[in-house]
Amino acid sequence: MLSWEEFDKPEDDVATKPANAEATPDMSLEKLDKVGDAAAHEARAVAAGDSDAVARAKAALNDLDIQEGLNELEGESARVRVDEKRMINARADLNQLVPFKYEWAWQKYLDGCANHWMPQEVNMNADIALWKSKDGLTEDERRIVKRNLGFFSTADSLVANNLVLATYRLITNPECRQYILRQAFEEAIHTHAYQYCIESLGMDEGEIFNMYHEIPSVAKKASWGLKYTRSISDPTFQTGTPETDKQFLRNLIAYYCVLEGIFFYCGFTQILSMGRRNKMTGTAEQFQYILRDESMHLNFGIDMINQIKIENPHLWDADMKDEATQMILQGTQLEIEYARDTMPRGVLGMNAAMMEDYLKFIANRRLTQIGLKEEYPGTTNPFPWMSEIMDLKKEKNFFETRVIEYQTGGALSWD
Ligand SMILES: [Fe+2]
Ligand SMILES: [Fe+2]
Repeated sequence: MLSWEEFDKPEDDVATKPANAEATPDMSLEKLDKVGDAAAHEARAVAAGDSDAVARAKAALNDLDIQEGLNELEGESARVRVDEKRMINARADLNQLVPFKYEWAWQKYLDGCANHWMPQEVNMNADIALWKSKDGLTEDERRIVKRNLGFFSTADSLVANNLVLATYRLITNPECRQYILRQAFEEAIHTHAYQYCIESLGMDEGEIFNMYHEIPSVAKKASWGLKYTRSISDPTFQTGTPETDKQFLRNLIAYYCVLEGIFFYCGFTQILSMGRRNKMTGTAEQFQYILRDESMHLNFGIDMINQIKIENPHLWDADMKDEATQMILQGTQLEIEYARDTMPRGVLGMNAAMMEDYLKFIANRRLTQIGLKEEYPGTTNPFPWMSEIMDLKKEKNFFETRVIEYQTGGALSWD
């Protein structure tokens, strides 16, 4: 058994000290290399007890060309200086996280981690009872639950796939990539949350997961987004010219400003409104956690877009501004159509006309967040309680308390 006394022995007494471990602080790099080589050589010698497989593995390393491997690293593998870091087309080594240049990206990564949650923590019992009861919900309320689970169950996969298969590769900054990896995992949690709701409520999975093919108001939104993934997901696509850089910028605007910034908002508002009325509270709680994640994704995307604009002002010309405005307005229009399809009549204290106002209010925000002018001047927010849920100060409080809630599995309250 080990005792602490053994650890207190002076170094010289330790019998297992390796023969070549006489490193002194002033040892030159050249000498260190030689010592390293000798140690590797010794370790690689085939011993009597080595199997054929082990002996072959050791021998194969004699042919390893370290330089060849290092040449394949993304970016130049020298010590990184902050001023060499860039959002796109950077030449600096992408494997060196520090020194940080974009503190906002690293902070969002930390905040995202502090916000961790899992769908199984939410109690779905009340929802199951209500969904299965004959007259617990009206037909219009049931339509809202089904349409939104239908849209979101595939929409978060579209976002995750775009992120991992297209965006990640083209953002050439390690602290942003660190957040993108966190975001990608959160998108997986969101898809899990929708699957968990669908399974808990005993819904027809085929019907729900196929809505993005079968229900026009859902399909139009999905197909609008996919168009932008297709343009850059070709593995040979590279940024580096004004045209390809703009193509990538369009993808970021489509996903962060429109998909995550507009297409989620009618559904979030409807389901959260249900929760505020004490209906489908488990599902609503899942959506509330997702909304907190999404507002962070959106803010991260806006920061990325604005940083790319600062570093590449030539991309943000009159044509690009007009295109970005058009994309946001098209997205708003599709979401207004979705609101009409999901709410043919007034329901849950809201109707399609109120939602239209809300979406125009949201569109104005998205436009101004990336430096464009409002296209629906004078629009006010008919659902101020939604802003309260997302308001930054509350978000901070949420992060401060969430760690404790996560450890105890506590629930959100609806006031
Ligand atoms: Fe998501
Ligand atoms: Fe997201």
